[in-house]
Amino acid sequence: MKTKVLMVCLGNICRSPLAEGLLKSKVDPEKVEVDSAGTSNYHIGDLPDERSIVTAKKHGLDITDQRGRQFSVEDFDSFDYIFVMDKSNHADILSLARTEEEGKKVDLILNKIYPNEQKDVPDPYYGGEHGFENVYQMLDQATDIIAQEIK
Ligand code: 4NP
Repeated sequence: MKTKVLMVCLGNICRSPLAEGLLKSKVDPEKVEVDSAGTSNYHIGDLPDERSIVTAKKHGLDITDQRGRQFSVEDFDSFDYIFVMDKSNHADILSLARTEEEGKKVDLILNKIYPNEQKDVPDPYYGGEHGFENVYQMLDQATDIIAQEIK
C-alpha cells in the first residue's frame, strides 16, 4: 500500500503546489503518492501561480501539470498525512475532521523543522518574487525531513 501525503494551503496555487512538487521529487512514486489542495474554492482548475512556477523552474522542478482543487472531507479517508502551511489552514482543516483519528493526520509542515513551534509558511500571494524563494527554501527543508521519515 502506498503512503499518501496531502499538502494544503488556502488557494492551492502558491505554497502547496511547491510542497507537492518538492516532495514528489524526493520520493519513490511507486511507494508514495503526493497531492495538494486548497481550503478555499478560489482557484479550482487553475495552474499554480506564475511566481511559483518560475521559482520551481529555477530549481529544476516542473509543477505545470498541477491544477487547483479544493480540500474535501473525503481526503481524510484517502490520505495518511495532511500537511498544512499555516495556522489558519490548520483550523479550517481540523474543523472538517469527523473523528479524533482524522485530526491526528493533520500537522503544520514547519513543525517538521521546528517541532512544536507552530510556525507558519508565510502566504507569498501579495508579496514579490523574493517571498516565493523564501517559501521554496522552507519547504525544501521540510520535505527533506518528510521524505526521510516516510521512506
Ligand atoms: P496559497 O496563496 O494559499 O499559498 O495558494 C494564496 C493564493 C490565492 C489567494 C490567497 C492565498 N487568494 O486570495 O486568491
